Parts: sequence; C-alpha cells; structure tokens
Amino acid sequence: MSDLIILCATGDVKEETPISVSPENFPMLAVYEYDGEYFVTDNLCTHGMAVLTDGYQDGSDIECPFHGGAFCIKTGEATAAPCVTPIKTYPVSLVNGNICIPAAAS
Ligand code: FES
Repeated sequence: MSDLIILCATGDVKEETPISVSPENFPMLAVYEYDGEYFVTDNLCTHGMAVLTDGYQDGSDIECPFHGGAFCIKTGEATAAPCVTPIKTYPVSLVNGNICIPAAAS
C-alpha cells in the first residue's frame, strides 16, 4: 500500500459526475466512474486551460467545457476536435473501497 496514494472513496464518484482531486506532487486529476469501473486522468484539457470535470462525461468520453473537444477517459486519446494531444491516464487500484494510483505516477 505504501506505493499507492488514495484519491477518494469509490462512493465519492458517480457515473457522469467525475470529481477533481489534487493530491500532493500530482497535477490536478479527474476521477471517473464508467460502467462500474473507475478511471483517472489529468484534469486539464490539452487544448487550453479548461478543467475537464467542469465539462460533461458522455459514456467513456469527457467533453471539455470550453470548445467541445473530448477525450477517452480509458485511454486519454483525443476523440473530438479541436483536441489532438492526449491527456495522461493513470492505472487505478481499488483498495478497501478507495480509488488509488501509484505514488510514483506523476
Ligand atoms: S480548452 Fe478544451 S477544447 Fe479547447
């Protein structure tokens, strides 16, 4: 467990309502639920300075609130223009009902 950091509890995240977390030594992150699984990505759009959790989760995509670009929350791949550069994704582990990522993943 020492190599993981806890981002939040699974109960804190609902599908289509991703949350923003700011763990120490990491950029702002977005935590999502989709189809019973949890995903973590960077929370800043790669097209501008928009916070993705201020946008809209549509299935496995997160749509940016600024210009309608979108990313796949599973892979980070840009799925709608004007976004081109992917967002970083993080491997998720579930530990005692908590959503965790590797402490060295930043
Ligand atoms: S800032 Fe996100 S699509 Fe432009």
